[in-house]
Amino acid sequence: MYATPALSDLRIGVLYGGASPERAGSVASGEAALKSLSTQGLHAELIDLDDVDWNALRGRIDVALLASHGPGGEDGKVQGTLEMLGIPYSGSGVLASALGMDKLAAKGVLRAGMVDTPREVDICPSWSQATAVSTVKHSLGFPVFVKPVAGGGSLAAGIAHDENELGVLLAKGERAYERYMAEEYIAGTPCTVGILEVDGDLRVLPVLDVEVPGRPFYDYEAKHDAALRREHCPSTLPAAQTTAMQLTALRVHRMVGAHGVSRVDFLCAPSGRLPVLEINTVPGLSPHGNLATMARAGGIDYDTLMRHLIATAFSKPAYVP
Ligand SMILES: Nc1ncnc2c1ncn2[C@@H]1O[C@H](COP(=O)(O)OP(=O)(O)O)[C@@H](O)[C@H]1O
Ligand SMILES: [Mg+2]
Repeated sequence: MYATPALSDLRIGVLYGGASPERAGSVASGEAALKSLSTQGLHAELIDLDDVDWNALRGRIDVALLASHGPGGEDGKVQGTLEMLGIPYSGSGVLASALGMDKLAAKGVLRAGMVDTPREVDICPSWSQATAVSTVKHSLGFPVFVKPVAGGGSLAAGIAHDENELGVLLAKGERAYERYMAEEYIAGTPCTVGILEVDGDLRVLPVLDVEVPGRPFYDYEAKHDAALRREHCPSTLPAAQTTAMQLTALRVHRMVGAHGVSRVDFLCAPSGRLPVLEINTVPGLSPHGNLATMARAGGIDYDTLMRHLIATAFSKPAYVP
């Protein structure tokens, strides 16, 4: 591992925005990160992925802090571009980013490593709606949870209790994303576990669990309105479950080859199952978001979190000073 350069000597580009459906979350991440870095006296600027001159970037910044969520920002494209430009960047490299963005591909890797994840049907874009509905019905039964393969933020996701509701969900989602999948519906408490590299060592942060009273699942609205959810961090779930999720989260981070930071999402079911839903390789960076909350519960304040994230750019195997 190379020594991290002094952050005060670096021009930091906070890459955010872009054209992804998760742009709003990314703007919140980027603005909060910039504010923190600026108040710490560091040289930082916001760079919107929607309007970036890649050729000029090399002469403009020394390191990129990625606050870019969703397709285009979290799926390996930006990561690969920065690598070609020779600009160190925070978090995961190309492969883990691409894997994390594709929930189906990631679930395949998890299964190969014997990690529990809900059974699913990949809804081929070429299928008619009738074929999709009957395949889901015969493979999984009802209810099912429908979501985009490469989505996030609970956008375009929902529960279908029968064929009719599945048809409505698929028709509604048709225009928004390229590909959808249906998973067996698992009733359980949404939980998430953050992994963060601190001074070269991976640290597993305290588990955060969420209650969403009166809502069918942890949806987009509940993710954006704190009044609609109740978070517990550290989680108040039994230690046997939180410890199991922490161990699994670390395994998942390693299995997909994530680097520096990630957030692994689970459901904690009354049956004792703790299925992994997904790994997020560019977790939201809002000071009130899950990652910052878990970091705080682990004794790491927001400003320090930002510095740890930037340091992950220099501990990547691909980094050559
Ligand atoms: N198989 C499932 N069964 C029940 N609820 C689910 C399932 N998959 C997702 N959910 C609900 O949707 C939320 C978001 O799911 P997740 O897979 O993490 O996608 P996103 O990338 O949108 O965060 C979960 O926290 C949970 O409330
Ligand atoms: Mg999630």
